[in-house]
Amino acid sequence: MTDQAPQKRLYIKTYGCQMNVYDSERMADVLRPLGYGVTDQPEGADLVVLNTCHIREKATEKVYSELGQIRRMKERKAEAGGQMTVAVAGCVAQAEGEEIMARQPAVDLVVGPQSYHRLPELIARAHRASGQRLAADFSADEKFDGLPAERHVAGVTAFLTVQEGCDKFCTFCVVPYTRGAEYSRPAQDILDEARRLADKGVREVTLLGQNVNAYAGGQGGGLAELVRRLADIGGLDRIRYTTSHPRDMDDDLIAAHGEIPQLMPYLHLPVQAGSDKVLKAMNRAHTAESYLRLVEKIRAARPDIAMSGDFIVGFPGESDKDFEATLELVRAVGFASAFSFKYSRRPGTPAAAMPLQVAEEAKEERLARLLDLLDEQQRAFNAACVGRTLPVLFEKPGRHAGQVVGRSPYLQAVHAEAPDGLIGQIVPVRIESAAKMSLAGVLAGHAAMEPA
Ligand code: SAH
Ligand code: SF4
Ligand code: F3S
Repeated sequence: MTDQAPQKRLYIKTYGCQMNVYDSERMADVLRPLGYGVTDQPEGADLVVLNTCHIREKATEKVYSELGQIRRMKERKAEAGGQMTVAVAGCVAQAEGEEIMARQPAVDLVVGPQSYHRLPELIARAHRASGQRLAADFSADEKFDGLPAERHVAGVTAFLTVQEGCDKFCTFCVVPYTRGAEYSRPAQDILDEARRLADKGVREVTLLGQNVNAYAGGQGGGLAELVRRLADIGGLDRIRYTTSHPRDMDDDLIAAHGEIPQLMPYLHLPVQAGSDKVLKAMNRAHTAESYLRLVEKIRAARPDIAMSGDFIVGFPGESDKDFEATLELVRAVGFASAFSFKYSRRPGTPAAAMPLQVAEEAKEERLARLLDLLDEQQRAFNAACVGRTLPVLFEKPGRHAGQVVGRSPYLQAVHAEAPDGLIGQIVPVRIESAAKMSLAGVLAGHAAMEPA
């Protein structure tokens, strides 16, 4: 996202999950009325915001090294007589606000995920070099009420945060500490925001939440009810949601996958591990068996659904046998895509203090084996699409001239030779080849399209 001819230049770098992507866009919306326009160059910017992630140690360390570079840019700008304001936002800000300011004096202000509506005030205070420089409140309702209704829309797909926070307390995870308790936005606010997005040409929304399927913002209605109401909005042809917890995958939501054509056949449902002993130590509240039964139910409602997941290898106490159980579960499910991580010890979480931490070499080896299996499954899922005609929502020009790129219902990237004029449209594409990360195809006649 880059704005035309702004008075002041705002550079935002986003780390971590989609919720941070949404928040970064909303920070730009808060700052636009103050004359800030988004640039993709940090050098010389008037305001630099790092929207950070605390989930694994590596993610956090990246922020400090990036801040070292930003400091040098800030010094260069000061030497040229200018001023650069440096803000740290996101989950590292929430978790380590004081430490950031102590470790990196170039940081002017620190703002946690629930305080973005306060950015204008915090920037003004930082410029006066007086008063509060750290805002780390935990009130999600104030955040959403305080953000402007108007959203700057760059494309035909958009994220829409409907739920924040987490009460699950998986023993490895920092999110309950950085994002606070589960909070659901009122359904009416979400419907209004979605309607405005549709009016601006958005055809696909992805509803976001750390536990999006725990959504409870309507009058008794959960996420399924919200999806039904969103599906009534003209122009919104595709609805997705992420990330879900197996515990909150209720029958109503499962049924919705079979009933609502706009709800896309893709489900990110992290399982983390396949050993019940490890799942228990993780405090996941599901077993391998209950996860498999759940997938069965979902496939009964929507047989072609693309399943996706998250995995952690090397959780404390995970033996070779436990890890084999993860591979077994993966074989039983057949994933269309997945994200796998080596367990990272996060200060303050229960798992960090558990005995039997797994050696780095064992984590590496397990990760490599898991990735091999998941890659194989992803390739097989993609290969099975060759010869089919899929509805593709074209999103942007491709890397090569004359090519456009979009997404299939299963969230695969699809490349095709097509005019730019098709961007924003859902078009039948006959799939001719498949790779690990994407498909390629040719435009097909409308009559050839399978139902989504
Ligand atoms: N709310 C989602 C995921 C949030 S974090 C859920 O419940 O599944 C995204 C993913 O990061 C998690 O699913 C998990 O696989 C991974 N993750 C979280 N903490 C981690 C840690 N300490 N080490 C390694 N991976 C971690
Ligand atoms: Fe973290 Fe577990 Fe909450 Fe997901 S459900 S955000 S993994 S604590
Ligand atoms: Fe990272 Fe925070 Fe998202 S820790 S994964 S940015 S909720």
